[in-house]
Parts: sequence; structure tokens; C-alpha cells
Amino acid sequence: MTTIQLPETLKWGAATASYQIEGAAHEGGRTPSIWDVFSHAPGNVKNGDTGDNACNSYHKYKEDVNHLSELGVDQYRFSISWSRVIPQGRGELNPEGIAYYRNLIQELLDHGIEPMITLYHWDLPQILQDEGGWEARETTDAFLAYAEAMFKEFGGQVKKWLTINEPWCASFLSNYLGVHAPGKTSLQAGVDVAHHLMLAHGKAVQSFRELVPDGEIGYAPNLGWLEPYSPSQEDIDACKRGMMWQKEWFMDPVFKGTYPETLIQLFAEHGASLNVEEGDLEIISQPIDLMGINYYTGSLGRYKEDGGLFQVEEVPLDERRTDIDWPIYAEGFYKALTDIHQTYGDVPIYITENGACYNHGVEDGRVYDQERIDYLKQHLTSLSRAIEAGVPIVGYIVWSLLDNFEWAEGYEKRFGIIHVNFETFERTRKDSYYWYRDTVNNHSFEV
Ligand code: FCB
Repeated sequence: MTTIQLPETLKWGAATASYQIEGAAHEGGRTPSIWDVFSHAPGNVKNGDTGDNACNSYHKYKEDVNHLSELGVDQYRFSISWSRVIPQGRGELNPEGIAYYRNLIQELLDHGIEPMITLYHWDLPQILQDEGGWEARETTDAFLAYAEAMFKEFGGQVKKWLTINEPWCASFLSNYLGVHAPGKTSLQAGVDVAHHLMLAHGKAVQSFRELVPDGEIGYAPNLGWLEPYSPSQEDIDACKRGMMWQKEWFMDPVFKGTYPETLIQLFAEHGASLNVEEGDLEIISQPIDLMGINYYTGSLGRYKEDGGLFQVEEVPLDERRTDIDWPIYAEGFYKALTDIHQTYGDVPIYITENGACYNHGVEDGRVYDQERIDYLKQHLTSLSRAIEAGVPIVGYIVWSLLDNFEWAEGYEKRFGIIHVNFETFERTRKDSYYWYRDTVNNHSFEV
């Protein structure tokens, strides 16, 4: 047995997102988001699942905060549903929506848990989608107005903020690969949406400085790792191209004020142009206080002539996969973190998501999810090595507190450390909940 010791100063947390847990889709003055419309259209989500009821956290938030409190975490990362607080997308605030989040925040503070708010975890009000959604530049101003309203409402109590969750998913996965809402399949739409999301991020950061001067703000891009399959230059270059789509495309603009030329050209070869207006990159490259990283998986990468846009084929390292079929690659977590540090310097990093899908059910009141514990141990071991290597990691936030609506995969795929029965909404703490509680409390665990 070896003890893996994490720094006493490391913040621990658990995360969720509004559409994935709240339910109450038609209550409290909320209007539909793109995910309501997308999930209700046949064929988009497995088993026809929708987020109509989700975990019913809208009504059970006190119970959820109690689970967090007994878990002993420092922070809870949750997102605000834009269409709950501003049902028309722009303009008037909805008092009921504001009250819900105000109560949640108060409940957290009363239990000594620091709230961390994500402004945009993918649920754009449908009314704005009807006007062009993120493809329309005007949506960045609607986002700014929404962000400013939230800073004014909650900035007195909430000091940790994230603008956009996983801009790669919200742009390319949703508008080019068509997997997530709004389900488009146009590269040009993907490129436009990506740029507007980053512009929206920059605008919100600018105004945050005035409205919440004592707060900290950042964003939460997702990152996988591609390790060259062989030492051949072809494989090395293929991996670089593949990584560039998630890494440089979404990080260079923030940290360097540029977009990677290689990808601009590659997109152009495929008929898509990057439309940047003067001043955009100055706005996007506003200094941020914290960098969120969402990490789940990685693979080997090998050059393949017809391997999609980037001519790269992903080859799993071995047969180990989670129940969502994502290869397990904990070493990639270490590599991704040290690589980000080397490329972008000393910005404080939060792991804003890391976790595993295993679909265990409840047996005699217990959920035996040893596989999730193993996954977390491996990834926290990589994290601890990255900290030792000098990467300025300040927090680790597990995905997820609860089993929830896993987007296009519906309710079948379970990421929670707490099991949710989606008929009764009953919560059952899994073995991983207790393991995580002990790890959080001891700042260490045994491997
Ligand atoms: C991430 C999302 C999060 C969750 C996990 C499993 O891409 O940010 O909402 O669905 O994957």
C-alpha cells in the first residue's frame, strides 16, 4: 500500500449542470432551452429521454446540499439555466428563477460550501436559437447582458465564476458533428459558434472586473490527450493536429490573443472561414484568474489518410473503458496538465470536471462502484504527480455529484457518486461517495 498525499491547500468539489439535474422544465416561469427542443425531437437522445424532470433538483436542492455537506467538499460547481432567469433570453429577469438560485446559494453558504457558478453549460434559451443562436454575433451581447445581471444579483456572495463550459462541445460537437443541441452539421457553423462563444467569454470577463472586483473568473474547456502511436513524424503531427482542435483553438485566443494558423488554413481548405472582427482578440485575451480543465479520456493517435478533418485515428491504449466506452488513460491526464502549464504558463488550474461513467444499480441499499473508485484513484495519482511537477493546480471537482441526464446518452449513462432513481428521484450514496468523502477529509488515499 502506498499513500497518495494531496496538498492540504487543494480545494475539493463536486459538479453538476442545470439542464442535467434541475428538472422542473415547465415550472417557475422557465422557457425552453435548445436542449428541451433537441431532446424532445425523436432520435436525438437515447431512449427518447429528456431533461423534463432530470434529478428534480429544483425541488430537492436542500437534500443535495446536505449530501455535499456530509461529503465535506469545499465547493459546489453548478450552472445557471439562462432561460430560467431570463425567460425571453434578453431583458426582464424572472423573480422565481432568481429566487431559486438565491436560495441554493444561501443553502450552500449556510453549510460552509463555496458556490462556483458556470454561466453557460449549453442550455441556450431556444428563443435566442430562433434568432440564429451562437452563429449570430448578437448572441454575444445577449450573453453579456445575462452575465452582468447574474454578477449583479449574485456577485456579492459568489466569488468563483466560469463563463463557458466546454466550448469545443458547444460549438463543434453541437454544430459540426451534430451530436448535441442544436444538432447542426456545418463546419462553418462550428467555426462561427466557437468564435462567438470565446467572444462572449471575453466580454463577460471584462465586465466582471467592474461588477465583482474581488471575484475570480475563468472558463472550462475540455481536453483529451492524444499520445503518438509511434515515434514517426506522421503520427506526431497527426496527434498535434487532433489536439489543436480542443487545445490551441480554444486556449491560444485567451492566452496569446491568436488563433492557430494551421487550423485556420485547414478549416479554409474545407470551406469554412474564421470571421474575426477588429478588436475581438483583445477582448478574448483578457487575463483570467483561473483555468478550468475537464478531463475524462485519452488515446493513442495515428496518422490516417481518411481519418476525418485532422487525418488522425484514435487507437485505445488497451481494452480498459468506462461504461460510456471512453478509454481510460490516467497518464494522459498528467501529460495534459503538464503540457498546458508548459504552453500557457502559471495560470491557476481547477480540474472543473473529472469522473467516470459506470452504470451500477442499487443492491440492498448499496452501490458497489469499485470501478469508479479505481478510476478516481488513478486520476488523482496523476494529479498529484502534476502538482509535484509544479503545475499550479488549486482545485479538483468531481463529475458528478449525482447521476443525471447525460445529454445525447440520456439517463442510462451514470456519472454520479450518488445514485439517482429517475422514477422516484431517490438518492443513494455509492461506495465512491464514501471513498471520496474520506479522501477529501484526509487529503490522501491508499493505492
Ligand atoms: C462533459 C460535460 C458534462 C458531463 C460530462 C460527462 O463533457 O461538461 O456536462 O456530461 O461530460
